[in-house]
Amino acid sequence: MGSAARFTGSSIIVTGAGSGFGEASARRFAAEGGRVLLADIDVTGAQRVAQAIEAQGGEALALEVDVSQEAAIVQMVEAAQTAFGSVDVLVNNAGYSHLNKLLWKITVEEFDAVFAVNVRGVFLGCKHVIPLMIEQGGGAIVNIASIGAIAPRPGVTPYNGTKGAVLTMTKGLALEVARHKIRVNAVNPVAADTGFMRGATGKAELSEEMRANLISSVPLGRMAEPADIASAVTYLASEDAAFLTGTGLNVDGGRSI
Ligand SMILES: NC(=O)c1ccc[n+]([C@@H]2O[C@H](COP(=O)([O-])OP(=O)(O)OC[C@H]3O[C@@H](n4cnc5c(N)ncnc54)[C@H](O)[C@@H]3O)[C@@H](O)[C@H]2O)c1
Repeated sequence: MGSAARFTGSSIIVTGAGSGFGEASARRFAAEGGRVLLADIDVTGAQRVAQAIEAQGGEALALEVDVSQEAAIVQMVEAAQTAFGSVDVLVNNAGYSHLNKLLWKITVEEFDAVFAVNVRGVFLGCKHVIPLMIEQGGGAIVNIASIGAIAPRPGVTPYNGTKGAVLTMTKGLALEVARHKIRVNAVNPVAADTGFMRGATGKAELSEEMRANLISSVPLGRMAEPADIASAVTYLASEDAAFLTGTGLNVDGGRSI
């Protein structure tokens, strides 16, 4: 990790910050001096994380936001602007997967719903933060894609399609905003045992067999941890990554080699 104060004076929005990768990233930003707006459709989760950050002397604000809804995103950006005076970093992390099943068993409603959150949500976040960042003279956006965008596996094909879209939008957008000193990067995590897995598997807990199966494809021999993703997110958002834009950082223990 870099210096303890990489984000002092910075205002950061993290979507899906009430759990998993978003929670770990928000806590890391706050620990490094950032003021964090925690947006989540699960406002109780976002409030829990905000309280934990404040208890450690950090600055945080929790807000109920459904990232698939434009009005909610507009409100989120306004809330950060009002509370903190700027938006220096946006982490588009909120996302979920439909249940693991073959493409032809997936309903049109399930397909549309996962694209609405994972793709429209990222589009809306970028759309409403970029004009502010242009006015401010710069900023950084980090999108959470997935290793499934690069090396898909069966059972989550539309979900992986959403992450392919996120990765491609990351690259195209990086070109559109580079002259405004805005960097746009993505993180591609391998499987982690977060709330996400409960949605994808429909089970409260990963079975030992499922866990062993997931681990068997990872050369470094374990699943991802939220802290692994938080390290990558804060790195890409920080000045340590000043010359990186349009990248997709594989945080996958070698799974995609
Ligand atoms: N866990 C994995 O194996 C894995 C692997 C690769 C990528 N990802 C991606 O990482 C991101 C974070 O997932 P996680 O693993 O931390 O899971 P998680 O379920 O622990 O966290 C996701 C958070 O997003 C929130 N959310 C869901 N829909 C939302 C909406 N419409 N608006 C606002 N918030 C919403 C949830 O309430 C939750 O707090 C997701 O984009 C996911 O697709 C996860």
